[in-house]
Amino acid sequence: MKILNVVGARPNFMKIAPIHREMGKYPQIEPVLVHTGQHYDEKMSKLFFQDLQLPEPDVYLGVGSGTHTEQTARIMLAFEKVMEEQKPDLVLVVGDVNSTAACSLVASKMQTKIAHVEAGLRSFDRTMPEEINRMITDALADFLFVTEKSGLENLKNEGIADEKVFFTGNVMIDSLSFFLEKAKESSILSDLHVNGSPFALVTLHRPSNVDVKDNLEDLLHTLSVIGKDVKIVFPMHPRTKKMIETFDLQNYISSSENLIITDPIGYLDFMQLMQNAKLLLTDSGGIQEETTYLGIPCITIRENTERPITIDLGTNVLVGPQSERIIEETNKILSGNGKKGKVPELWDGHAAERIVKILVERL
Ligand code: UD1
Repeated sequence: MKILNVVGARPNFMKIAPIHREMGKYPQIEPVLVHTGQHYDEKMSKLFFQDLQLPEPDVYLGVGSGTHTEQTARIMLAFEKVMEEQKPDLVLVVGDVNSTAACSLVASKMQTKIAHVEAGLRSFDRTMPEEINRMITDALADFLFVTEKSGLENLKNEGIADEKVFFTGNVMIDSLSFFLEKAKESSILSDLHVNGSPFALVTLHRPSNVDVKDNLEDLLHTLSVIGKDVKIVFPMHPRTKKMIETFDLQNYISSSENLIITDPIGYLDFMQLMQNAKLLLTDSGGIQEETTYLGIPCITIRENTERPITIDLGTNVLVGPQSERIIEETNKILSGNGKKGKVPELWDGHAAERIVKILVERL
């Protein structure tokens, strides 16, 4: 049983790692790791392979950046050749990035079965490129592995047959629980001089927050206000860095002494920062889930989330981009009144085991 495990961008790596490892336990499975190269910087890609103990990709497509259409088209052209050479029995994709949708389209046109891990999540916001990727992938997939119950409902509403859908839990939490102890060996807290001092951890990279000058400027201003009360560690995504330079907003960064800006940070160092932070301020999808698992308060700077369980049950609060709301919620957390949460069902470190077992039994 040959299975192509596809990754492309940073948030894919921690999702594929436990699945690829689990497949290695079954002699009847031949897992082939395909990296599209959507993310290619050492700190966005290679570092994660090392931290997550992933082997070198068997196939690397090197597609790089571009407009969404260019990137998607390049992935499709390159992946079609891989499909012709490898002739897999299944293509397994994770998450919602352009590589996820592009490779699903190719697989379905070549009449190969598709498994989508992290199926059914919906923000109901079609201005997000990820929402389109989720819808396309779920419409084409033969196995849909769901992380939270909202996903079951969304897929039912879209008319996806029940027998294709499996509630298996969250593979991102498999990686987090597997590497949490190892992350404690990281020296990142002393490297950044936040050992023992309270700090907020920030990530921002959504186009809606960083690609519009006024929005990005407002957010940087908000951070400078928060930075008067607490240290801020802000590992900066290349998109955000590029937009700060394009809009000439560097003065916000250089003028705030409590603001510690770094390059993108590897998986283990980031986990160590996250588990020691007072709070997270983010527009990421995965971080909403990781903070819920860790019980760390998370303020999500977006109008919506495709991961509602992190709000219903977890530590996540959705605030939108308004400065007053972000500052109000931050102060609440800093004064010890942050949200307490619970760990959602099946976020137990064993999701990959359930997924691979189902594939072995049914493929
Ligand atoms: C992509 C995903 C997003 C995910 C994010 C995590 C899509 C549609 N978006 O967004 O869902 O949350 O990854 O990081 O798939 N760049 C580099 N080095 C790299 C990669 C990118 O410098 O290794 C720069 C390039 O200038 C590029 C820009 O970042 O144009 C954006 O990269 P891209 O892959 O288009 O989207 P992300 O914003 O990273």
